[in-house]
Amino acid sequence: MSQRRDHWSSNAGLVLAATGSAIGLGNLWKFPFITWENNGGAFVLVYLICIAAVGLPIMMAELLIGRRSQKSAVGALKEAVASKWPGGRWLGGVVGFWGVLAGFILLSYYTVIAGWSLFYFVKTMGWTFGGYPAGMSAGDLFTGQALNTGLQLLLSLGFSVATIAIVYFGVSKGIERIARIFLPILFGILLLMLVSALSMSGAGEALAHIFRPNFAELERGAVLEALGHSFFTLSLGMGAMITYGSYISRKHSVVKASGAIVALDTLIALIATVVMFSVIFSVAGMRDEVGGSTVGMLFISLPELFYSEVPFGVVLGPLFYVLVALAALTSTISLLEVVSAYLIDQRGITRKKATTGAGAAIFLFTTFAVLSIPGLLGVSTEGFFSGIEIFAGKVGWFATADHFVSNWMLPTGGFFITLAAGWFMTRESTRGELADGSEPRWFHYGAWRFFIRWVAPIAVAAIIVFVIRGTDFS
Ligand code: PFF
Repeated sequence: MSQRRDHWSSNAGLVLAATGSAIGLGNLWKFPFITWENNGGAFVLVYLICIAAVGLPIMMAELLIGRRSQKSAVGALKEAVASKWPGGRWLGGVVGFWGVLAGFILLSYYTVIAGWSLFYFVKTMGWTFGGYPAGMSAGDLFTGQALNTGLQLLLSLGFSVATIAIVYFGVSKGIERIARIFLPILFGILLLMLVSALSMSGAGEALAHIFRPNFAELERGAVLEALGHSFFTLSLGMGAMITYGSYISRKHSVVKASGAIVALDTLIALIATVVMFSVIFSVAGMRDEVGGSTVGMLFISLPELFYSEVPFGVVLGPLFYVLVALAALTSTISLLEVVSAYLIDQRGITRKKATTGAGAAIFLFTTFAVLSIPGLLGVSTEGFFSGIEIFAGKVGWFATADHFVSNWMLPTGGFFITLAAGWFMTRESTRGELADGSEPRWFHYGAWRFFIRWVAPIAVAAIIVFVIRGTDFS
C-alpha cells in the first residue's frame, strides 16, 4: 500500500499510452470487418455518432475518476460512489472488480490473435526475400497455422512475455516509453499504406462505400454493434482508462487528453478500413472471396495481395504485420496493467510479483483459448475446450469469452461508470476535474454533464436490454 505512485511524465505521455491502449486489433482487424458486414456508409456514420455522443463523454468520465482518486479501478470507483453515498463503497468495489475480471478474460484470448500477426510477419518476411509461393492457398495457410496448437502456444507465449516485461517496469519507464517509441512508428507505417492504397484502382469505390451513407442498408442490430464496438475500441467499460487516469498528475487536462485519444483512435480505424477496402475493391473477384471469411480478412485476403496487387507490397507486407503486432502490444499492456494495478493498489503486492503472477495466471486461460480454436473456426466442436457452450450458442472458450466480454461485461461496466460520474459524484467534484482552467474551448461542462447523465446511460442500457432479449449482433 505504501508504494509510491508512478505518473506519466507529461501530457503527451498519457495521450500516447492511452491511445496505444485504444488502438489495437479492434481498429485494424475488427472495425474493417464489421464495417464490411454492415455494408459501410450508414454503419460508419452511426459509429461516429456513438463515438462522439457516448465514447467521448465516458472517456472523460473514466480519466477523471482515476485522476481524482489516484487509485486504480476498484479503489477509484469505491471513492466515486462514496462521494454521495458513503454506504455504497461496496458497489463501486464490485463494479471495479468486474472490470479487472474483464481485463483478465479479454487478455486471455487477445494474445492469441496478436500471435497470428507475429506468424504473418515472419511469413511475409520470408516471401519478401524468397518470393511468394505460386499456387499456395491463403485459406489453408491460415487454418493450418491456427490449428497448430504448439505453434499457437509459442506465439501467444511470446506475446504474453513481451507484455509482462513491459508492465513489469511500471508506468513511466515501461508503458509510456514503449508507447512513445511505437506509436509514431505505427502512424508512419499506416500513412505509407494509405498513400499506396489510394493509388490503387479501387480506392474511389472504397471511399464511397465507407463514407456514403445508405440508410436502407442499415439494420437495427448494426446500431447496437456500432455502440458496442465504440466501447471496445476506446478501451472503455472495464476501468483501463480509470487506471491510466490514476497516473495523471494534477497539471494535466483530462479533457484535452480525451479529445486527442478519441480522435486518433477513430482516425486510425478509418484509415485502416480505407486501406483494406481499397485493396479488396481493386482486385476482381476479391469481393466474393472476402464475403465468405470476414474474420480472416486481415490474415487470409490481404497477405497474397501484397505480393500481387499492392504497390510496394513487398515492403509494406511485413511492415503491415509489424504494425498489427505493435498496436496489439500497446493494448495488451493496458489490459495487464488493469489487473496488476488492482493487485498493487488493493492487495499491496509488489509490481514485480503482480505482473508476473497475473501474467502467468492469464496465460493459463490463453491455453484454453488456443485449445478452442477448432471451435472458433468451425472446424470441430469436439473436445472439452472446443465443445464447451456456456450460453448464447457460442462454441468454445475463445468465442464464449469474446462474446461475454464485448457484449456483456464492457456495456454493463460502462453503464455503471456513467452512473458513478454522472449521478454519484457531485457536480463540484466533476467540474473541478474537467473545467480546471486548462480545458480547450470546444468543451462545455454542462453539455458533458447532460451526456453522461442521460444520453450515455440510456444508450448503453438499450444495448444491454437488446442483449438480454437475445438480439444477436455479433
Ligand atoms: N481497444 C483495444 C482494441 O481496440 O483493440 C481493445 C481493448 C484494450 C479493450 C484494452 C479494453 C482494454 F482495456
